[in-house]
Amino acid sequence: MKAILEVDRVSYRWPNNSAALINCSLQIPKPGLWMLVGGNGSGKSTLLRLISGLLEPKEGEIRLASIAALVFQNPDHQLLLPCCGSELCFHLPVGIAPQAELIEAALDQVGLAGFTNRPIHSLSGGQKQRLAIASALLSGAELLLLDEPTALLDPESQGAVLALIRQLCQQTATQPKPLTALWVTHKLEELHHCDGALRLEQGNAGPWLTGASMASALEGLPRGRAGG
Ligand SMILES: Nc1ncnc2c1ncn2[C@@H]1O[C@H](COP(=O)(O)OP(=O)(O)OP(=O)(O)O)[C@@H](O)[C@H]1O
Ligand SMILES: [Mg+2]
Repeated sequence: MKAILEVDRVSYRWPNNSAALINCSLQIPKPGLWMLVGGNGSGKSTLLRLISGLLEPKEGEIRLASIAALVFQNPDHQLLLPCCGSELCFHLPVGIAPQAELIEAALDQVGLAGFTNRPIHSLSGGQKQRLAIASALLSGAELLLLDEPTALLDPESQGAVLALIRQLCQQTATQPKPLTALWVTHKLEELHHCDGALRLEQGNAGPWLTGASMASALEGLPRGRAGG
């Protein structure tokens, strides 16, 4: 099967000439929840911006088998419209009519059934993050790029958002086509829920490890150098 994502020897320099990624390669072979770790400034957010098309590689190539959508750490930086229904309509692909059933189904999928007319300012942080995920799903994306999506949430909401993404990335009878998520984290406990984890270091990606192996490899490192 063709890889869902191929990052092929990608390099990226900022206008001030500092290198964020240097000859970085990785592949996501199949649907599932894949995690990305690395110390502060190792290039994780830059990589997600390159994959989503917000930035263009200076060298190398990024190949995608589907649409990718970025979910930010802070949903307030992403949600634009006054209420849940209008926010979701905004993300529908061009040519798709904003039918109420589509919006309701998307809200239902992320556990926000009945929220169509709810003002966004009245949502909790976890609910806003779910709405951002629903927007990404409605856009037709099959690859979700999540940049520390639980960093601003309380422990209960962190667990709920992780469980939601885990469920969307699993094949079930009601979900024949599981999604793929690339999830950036500094939380070692989250690694135990992924299908594979890799570490960015000095602009380069290491090999995929199991989440448990990655967590134990990082446990001994000082905070900020690794994932934690
Ligand atoms: N707009 C910018 N202009 C110049 N340099 C930038 C810019 N944005 C990021 N950088 C630099 O690129 C490097 C990688 O940053 P990036 O945000 O991708 O790291 P990160 O791995 O996401 O870190 P963190 O864990 O702190 O979120 C850093 O050295 C950072 O200072
Ligand atoms: Mg970052």
